[in-house]
Amino acid sequence: MIELKNISKEVLEAGVKIPILRNIDLTILKGEFVSVMGPSGSGKSSLMNILGSLDLPTSGDYLFEGTNIQRLSGKQLADFRNQRLGFVFQSFMLIPRLSVKDNVEVPLLYSTYNKKERTRRIKEALEQVGMIHKAKEPIINLSGGQKQKIAIARAIINDPDLLLIDEPSGNLDADSKGEILDIFKSLNAKGKTIVLVTHDPEVAQVGKRILILKNGSWAQPMKGVEVY
Ligand SMILES: Nc1ncnc2c1ncn2[C@@H]1O[C@H](COP(=O)(O)OP(=O)(O)OP(=O)(O)O)[C@@H](O)[C@H]1O
Ligand SMILES: [Mg+2]
Repeated sequence: MIELKNISKEVLEAGVKIPILRNIDLTILKGEFVSVMGPSGSGKSSLMNILGSLDLPTSGDYLFEGTNIQRLSGKQLADFRNQRLGFVFQSFMLIPRLSVKDNVEVPLLYSTYNKKERTRRIKEALEQVGMIHKAKEPIINLSGGQKQKIAIARAIINDPDLLLIDEPSGNLDADSKGEILDIFKSLNAKGKTIVLVTHDPEVAQVGKRILILKNGSWAQPMKGVEVY
């Protein structure tokens, strides 16, 4: 599904090139569940930004089902992100005063689905994360764990092929964490490909493959790090 070939990312700081990702290769098959770990500043979020087509690498190729993502136009990229990818950010990025269902509906605003189809999708997404009973509640009334579930519901509303999840368990208690990990497992069992970034070894273990970034490079050979 995904192939990163020799991806590097540099940023300029006071005229000096700082490498953030160095010659990264990565192949992800459809249906895989990959966890990415590594110290703070090792480049995990930078890698996720490239996978999410939110940022371009300095060099290298990103192929998604054989299509070179760097060659897509702005409109094609927006459609690609909206239809194929689901994002769960650590900071949730929910709109506090809107209701749960209005937040989950946001990615559908760019679609041509009619009201009935939108309502069906919102219901299905909220059921998958066990939050249908909170549909009319404003986001500000929810706990951290509940907000995380709403962010997941929003990420899956367009039935994406790839879910990109950055630090899902930041400030969660053990119960919420367990529930959220169960949601990820069940989404993967239903066929969603998942890439998950985390500092938490317990969270990383839900992935079927764990990769470690250090200083912008893979810390171990990518083959042979299967944990199950
Ligand atoms: N746009 C940018 N300009 C300058 N430096 C950047 C930029 N983006 C990232 N960096 C630097 O690149 C390095 C990698 O950052 P990144 O956010 O990918 O790390 P991370 O592994 O996600 O860390 P954390 O675990 O703390 O979230 C850091 O040193 C960061 O300061
Ligand atoms: Mg990060």
